[in-house]
Amino acid sequence: MNKAVGPFDVYHETIAQLAGNGIILLAGNPPNPMTIGWGTLGEIWHMPIFTVLVRPTRHTFGLMEQAKDFTVCVLSDRHKKHLALCGTKSGRDMDKIKVCGFTLAKSTHILTPYIAESIIHYECRIVHKHRLDPASLDPAIDTKYYQAKDWHMVYYGEILGTFVDCEIAR
Ligand SMILES: Cc1cc2nc3c(=O)[nH]c(=O)nc-3n(C[C@H](O)[C@H](O)[C@H](O)COP(=O)(O)O)c2cc1C
Repeated sequence: MNKAVGPFDVYHETIAQLAGNGIILLAGNPPNPMTIGWGTLGEIWHMPIFTVLVRPTRHTFGLMEQAKDFTVCVLSDRHKKHLALCGTKSGRDMDKIKVCGFTLAKSTHILTPYIAESIIHYECRIVHKHRLDPASLDPAIDTKYYQAKDWHMVYYGEILGTFVDCEIAR
């Protein structure tokens, strides 16, 4: 069972996992899980917003380009191996949901489902996107992260719902 909470109520838990083993960006139909380590959680346009960064080389990029929404799923450290798999294997080559043994559950606010094994999940509607502009980027960052000129697309998701597994909500 999940409990609805405020969009920033589990901010620290979310960012700690994002900066640790990563969290899952789930998008597409059928949904494909991709591990992400970069993103922000904040307030823009008087809306709670989750931004996620996707390189154009990812299978997820094509899915996000077609998508209206996505979920962000935070898994516990028990799923470290699954996070590594979803961050190294492509949905072009395998059904990562099946390989990881994840269960998909119906979201409350959007069409994209979420991973039932998550401890936290966010339901997000895409309200904006833009490609990182190398002309405006610190040259040191550009050299360090974009040798292949594969600048990320940044997707802005309005957070319509934030849910916590009742086990950790107690
Ligand atoms: C810890 C971790 C964090 C990652 N963060 C991102 C990210 O923020 N953006 C991105 O485009 N790729 C990121 N990746 C790489 C993708 O997860 C990886 O290329 C994945 O295999 C792409 O899956 P897909 O082709 O099914 O979309 C990360 C990988 C790991 C292991």
